[in-house]
Amino acid sequence: MAYSRRKFISFLGKASIGAAIVPPFLISCGNTSTPAETKALSNDELKKLKSFVLEALPASDKDDLLLTKGLDYHTIIKWGDKISNEDTFGFNNDFTCFIPLDKNNPKDGLLWVNHEYINSLYIAGFNYRDYENPLEHITLEQVDKEMYNVGGSIVRIKEENGKWKVIENDPYNRRITGKTPIQLNWDHPIKGKTSAIGTLANCSGGITPWNTFLTCEENYDGFYGETEYDENNIASKIPSNYYGWENFYDYPPEHYGWVVEINPQDGTAQKHIALGRFAHECCTLYELEDKRVVAYTGDDSNNEHLYKFISSKPGSLKIGTLYVADTINGKWLALDWENQPLLKKKFKDQTEVLIRAREAAKILGATPLNRPEDIEIDPITGNIFVSLTNNKSKNDFHGSILKIEETNGAFDALTFKASTYKAGGEENGFSCPDNLAFDQSGNLWITSDMSGSWMNKEDKPYMPFKNNSLFVIPRYGKDAGKVIRVASAPRDAELTGPWFSPDGKTLFLSVQHPGEQTTDINNPTSKWPFDEDNIPKPAVVAITGDLIEKMNKLNQIEG
Ligand code: FEO
Ligand code: CA
Ligand code: CA
Repeated sequence: MAYSRRKFISFLGKASIGAAIVPPFLISCGNTSTPAETKALSNDELKKLKSFVLEALPASDKDDLLLTKGLDYHTIIKWGDKISNEDTFGFNNDFTCFIPLDKNNPKDGLLWVNHEYINSLYIAGFNYRDYENPLEHITLEQVDKEMYNVGGSIVRIKEENGKWKVIENDPYNRRITGKTPIQLNWDHPIKGKTSAIGTLANCSGGITPWNTFLTCEENYDGFYGETEYDENNIASKIPSNYYGWENFYDYPPEHYGWVVEINPQDGTAQKHIALGRFAHECCTLYELEDKRVVAYTGDDSNNEHLYKFISSKPGSLKIGTLYVADTINGKWLALDWENQPLLKKKFKDQTEVLIRAREAAKILGATPLNRPEDIEIDPITGNIFVSLTNNKSKNDFHGSILKIEETNGAFDALTFKASTYKAGGEENGFSCPDNLAFDQSGNLWITSDMSGSWMNKEDKPYMPFKNNSLFVIPRYGKDAGKVIRVASAPRDAELTGPWFSPDGKTLFLSVQHPGEQTTDINNPTSKWPFDEDNIPKPAVVAITGDLIEKMNKLNQIEG
């Protein structure tokens, strides 16, 4: 049975009068569980909140993590830090999420962090820019270092006296890398195997109602290449044009491009074939009343698609149907070999449909989109927000945020209405939306991802926006609906993985790829976080402060 819209709103409506509480599994990957009780404000407090001015941070090209008034940060962990006697924290941290170990204590739990890709200059001292054909020069030892630094990390963190710290050597601390064996959750082997070696290109992700992490394999073709099919359906291998791990390890491209689930209790992992294979940005789950799950996931590539999986069995990411969006006609189209003659004509079985999901989607008439990135479910309305970051091939340089309203608010509906919620560009003060997160009042936080090679360049359209940033769109008060910059990233960096702690008071945030445009390691374009090594390092920070606390209460001014 579908979760009715009326019930959904009335349940969440409680939050809007300040009594309590966001649902235990807050539907989305942007917020987890068990927020602290919110006390109704006194008249005096309410008056102060009404006069609160959210000061915008001006755009900046400074090499630092700058925050607007009312916010502070401290670094939790950075690339190369020891997490145990055996392991260190990986490179280019993207998605972060936090699960408390005890739901009554929001200050002690497990932080999952994706390590999306690597910069070999820092990882292995290998400078791709020194060679015309770099893949002919990189060594096995250097590739092994690269493989270690992708995947993800689990670290136990605790907050004491307002500061989050990693518990080094905690038994939960572990790494998942490009070499970890991972089960393929499917009844048929994929390329003759029932498990794959490693996960990579781990961009954004999600969380499940059963407290496991989801990490999504995005630009997988840069590592082991891709398989391409011609008009006669004949396969050929396209080599990786980037990392070229295939020159050392013979793993099939078909083992990558999946949503991967990690169980933090024992580190076991599985790749969910039923969710399709493409450049998954994220995977945002909703649990229906009968415990079936709906998973939204986008394919972050020019003119690719938005998908949703609806399970037909409680708690399953295997048994169910994968759909793709026709946003023009508002229809979810079933990628179902058995019941779609067009798919039966082209593919030999459902496994092939899922492996070649992009082609199957196009055959059914799915709508090409401008690079779907993060997806979040609005906790107040149940609408689904999707960042469409940009599509240079269609001269969309600034992107937009798409709003999906499922028919009757039912997440398992097969029809919906799509519209643009907010367009990027100078008028709205932001460009290239990427990650999204809702706070406890339903204010929307957005990070931007303008590409490093185009940022701060006079001849490119991103000049006015300067460095990548974090923005908030307040839901209530005089700034409601405005896009306000609250943080500016170090040079060449992107802010990623915003995730609120269960009490809503900390915003975990990744600072990814500072100094990415560096050509000479002795003269890096960034030195953030300014540690003794004098080179840039990706790191995860905790942002706290009065501003977050006020934003979390903003709904009360509407009371
Ligand atoms: Fe890795 Fe779509 O960002
Ligand atoms: Ca992203
Ligand atoms: Ca991105």
